[in-house]
Amino acid sequence: MEILRTISEVKAAVRPRKRAGARVGLVPTMGYLHEGHLSLVRRARQETDLVVVSIFVNPLQFGPREDYDRYPRDLDRDAALLAPEGVDIVFAPSVEEMYPEPIRTFVEVTGLTEGLCGASRPGHFRGVTTVVTKLFNIVEPDVAYFGEKDFQQLQVVRRMVRDLNMNVEVVGVPTVREPDGLALSSRNVYLRGREREAARILYRAIQRAQELVAQGQRDARALVEDLTAFIAREPLARVDYVAVVDPETLAPVERIEGRVRLALAVYIGSTRLIDNAELAVDNPELEGAG
Ligand code: PAJ
Repeated sequence: MEILRTISEVKAAVRPRKRAGARVGLVPTMGYLHEGHLSLVRRARQETDLVVVSIFVNPLQFGPREDYDRYPRDLDRDAALLAPEGVDIVFAPSVEEMYPEPIRTFVEVTGLTEGLCGASRPGHFRGVTTVVTKLFNIVEPDVAYFGEKDFQQLQVVRRMVRDLNMNVEVVGVPTVREPDGLALSSRNVYLRGREREAARILYRAIQRAQELVAQGQRDARALVEDLTAFIAREPLARVDYVAVVDPETLAPVERIEGRVRLALAVYIGSTRLIDNAELAVDNPELEGAG
């Protein structure tokens, strides 16, 4: 496994392999890797010939009051986790390598980025789509892997690729969870003491939503109200948003029918956690029957 720091080294390593017919898979990350990241890597290893993992804490996607400075970083630990997975190239550029001068060009997906995390993190998705475009141009992957854990990000990247005719296939990978349901996240290391226990409230809310839908709840607003009150009963939790949205447009829906997505963001103490799940109504035609 090669660890490369510069754009020119990555291009020099990937291009001849690509010309020789290798299918290139890219897994973009911000490092401090966990089993969620590794499930993307394993999928890439199964499906592509040359696996590139990027590790870059992208300052462009953090707001001024967010955790850019204290975001966990440990390249040695990450490299030790990636080597046994058969990764070919780790691309770990510096901020100066990625942004040698103030960036004046941005890639922005509109509409899909205005609600959910976009509402509480202005500029975040513009930072994500801009850096992902740079990574696509540097690595020129045939396939890129993103987690459903960040469902809005996945759908925003898919839309960017469609709208701009980018030559890359986007693959979404299911969320990896702790045994108690908490979605793995690099930010879980921020949780202290009782906060780790309190963080279970996100997955418990998802389970509650699935139960209520199975019992016949079809009114999205009533479901959101119930879940908001449910989460509020956890003293360490503060809801940022709870929403039931169309999985493609990410616009709120009124009725829970067909396939809709439940998305939530909850502060546990000062740590903001997100999670989401599909709320599937298996047989909309039979609604109300039986
Ligand atoms: P990061 O938070 O490091 O996540 C990298 C990838 O791992 C993302 O596609 C994310 O959805 C996926 N991932 C994280 N936790 C997961 C879990 N529990 N199960 C499955 N997949 C999971 O997302 C980013 O970095 C950045 O925004 C990035 C796309 C790299 C652009 O900077």
